[in-house]
Amino acid sequence: MRPDKVSLFEVGPRDGLQNEKSVPLADKIQLVNNLADAGVKRIETGSFVSPKWVPQMADSSDVFARVARHADVSYSALTPNMRGLEAALDAKADEVAVFAAASEGFSQRNINCSIEESIERFIPLIEKAKSLNLPVRGYVSCTLGCPYDGDIPVSEVVRVSEILYKLGVYEISLGDTIGVGTPDKARNMVQAVSAKVPMEKLALHFHDTWGQALANIHACLDLGVSTIDTSVAGLGGCPYAKGASGNLASEDLVYMLHGMGIDTGIDLQKLAAAGHKISQALGRPSGSKVAQAMGS
Ligand code: HMG
Ligand code: MG
Repeated sequence: MRPDKVSLFEVGPRDGLQNEKSVPLADKIQLVNNLADAGVKRIETGSFVSPKWVPQMADSSDVFARVARHADVSYSALTPNMRGLEAALDAKADEVAVFAAASEGFSQRNINCSIEESIERFIPLIEKAKSLNLPVRGYVSCTLGCPYDGDIPVSEVVRVSEILYKLGVYEISLGDTIGVGTPDKARNMVQAVSAKVPMEKLALHFHDTWGQALANIHACLDLGVSTIDTSVAGLGGCPYAKGASGNLASEDLVYMLHGMGIDTGIDLQKLAAAGHKISQALGRPSGSKVAQAMGS
């Protein structure tokens, strides 16, 4: 059944900015603060990964230290291993996320290990986080296609999602990492996963590379999915997935949801302003069609 409220999980400061050449620390902090001021309650603020792999996120500790924390906002971090978890704890992240893939090719290129090895790595991380009452989110990448392995069997997406869920992640974010999915395929994949992971524990993380993200989300809303990952101004992508530029813009999703009478708790005007601001810092117009239509 279609939800009457959707929770936006904003990934711009991480999934977006991990793909930009160099963004000054002050602009990153401003972005996170502006998103919170717009009413966004869940903000992926950075990642604690190897700076050799993703130098753009090397200052995540500083971002966490300097944002003006709102008590009702969860500031989260991506953590690939125990070292990442320790850094996230030092930074006082409100939650962390492990990230696995449904394809071997992507797992190797993104985190330099097989899917099984990545899960072995996540076990102690999740256990430690649980012992500290720190919520752990789980990503599954390449659910609708992989830049290296091509088509991915839905059964693999279901298998990896179920493993992560059983390990104790509170939510599974299903990534269309390169945005190749189409509506029926997206819906079938989500439906299949929901046989093993309750629908209310699923989130959609659809990139808009092929212009399909809104259509794909629309196709899944009637299944009851009520958490969606987006990136303000459409910032983003993944350095290990060529062509993955363009997470769905948060503004575009919010406009569609509000138009459908679905509440997000977000002030679209302020959200668009946050997107314009970071886009100016990057020296380009906002990648959100809605923000462009609204004007600056
Ligand atoms: P590795 O080279 O196999 O492992 O990398 P390593 O243990 O040999 O570490 C290499 C170096 O990194 C060492 O330093 C470690 O100390 C250091 P050296 O001894 O050479 O000086 N290191 C770390 N430094 C800081 N923080 C850490 C850390 N761990 C090791 N946590 C590793 C393995 C997983 C570390 C690496 O592959 C990595 O960091 N990968 C992250 C890649 C990444 O961030 N990708 C983008 C995010 S995923 C994504 O965007 C998809 C998503 O949006 C969903 C979707 O769209 O589908 C989530
Ligand atoms: Mg992504």
